[in-house]
Amino acid sequence: MTTRPRHLLDFQDWTPERLHAILDNADTMLQVLDRPVKKVPALQGLTVCNAFFENSTRTRTSFELAARRMSADVLTFAAGASSVSKGESLRDTLEVLTSYKVDAYIVRHHAAGAAHLVARYSGKPVINAGDGRRAHPTQALLDAYTIRQEYGSLEGKTVAILGDVRHSRVARSNAELLPKLGAQVVLCGPATLLPPGLAQMPGVTLTTDPRKAVRGAHAVMALRLQRERMGGGFLGSLQEYADTYQVNDTLLKEAESGAIVLHPGPMNRDLEISSDAADGPQSRILKQVENGQAIRMSVLYHLLVGRN
Ligand code: CP
Repeated sequence: MTTRPRHLLDFQDWTPERLHAILDNADTMLQVLDRPVKKVPALQGLTVCNAFFENSTRTRTSFELAARRMSADVLTFAAGASSVSKGESLRDTLEVLTSYKVDAYIVRHHAAGAAHLVARYSGKPVINAGDGRRAHPTQALLDAYTIRQEYGSLEGKTVAILGDVRHSRVARSNAELLPKLGAQVVLCGPATLLPPGLAQMPGVTLTTDPRKAVRGAHAVMALRLQRERMGGGFLGSLQEYADTYQVNDTLLKEAESGAIVLHPGPMNRDLEISSDAADGPQSRILKQVENGQAIRMSVLYHLLVGRN
């Protein structure tokens, strides 16, 4: 295998072989999570800092549990309850946290590139837990894992991703990851929310037509409309958006028979996804959440165990 990357900031330095190793190891982690005692000593003696400068439910809680399940000490830093609100900079905050002899950082930040800065300043392994609209690599890994769990392999599969592609780090990370694992990605949304430059990525196509997007898809992912990141002018109306792009049972009839339904969360129910689709038999949304813990254990193991 090639040299092990020090960080998981995006997938640029990650070979398909290493990515498959993360997914394979998640199978073992799921077995650990099925035991009566859900704990292994792999990270004993290490301190992992969960540094969240932006709100999160799934990513923060699953990373915290993942690190604890592997016996790490966990320092949880939530910017909203910190001196960041008094104007302390990211670098000064980091110097405080580094004084506690942290061994690795998990970083969520509203600014693209923040995780790279933490990697440079701290000198410790960093996992990007979502930076602006740029990347959310562990979300893409858990999405890939959920699809692989269903079909056995990503090879030759088509994944349709519908919605607010423009503001989505999940869409970008999936567009980077899934083709490396042999899948095709179709990104779909209104033209205002579909940056044409993404069509340059290998294995990625773009369409504004939702029926065309899902035709032949083995997995259909709805993205949250990120209204907090929209300054206006992107959509005619929310009703018009839902009428055209909502992932619902009618649209799913156009996909491969039994295609699975994904959503990274949090959901705007009955806007980008209908409740019938979110809660129906094809939905794997809660399976994504469950798999998130195993994937994050696997990533922590891969980056931290056996490193000097
Ligand atoms: N998918 C995701 O990143 O969800 P959270 O914002 O709740 O972590």
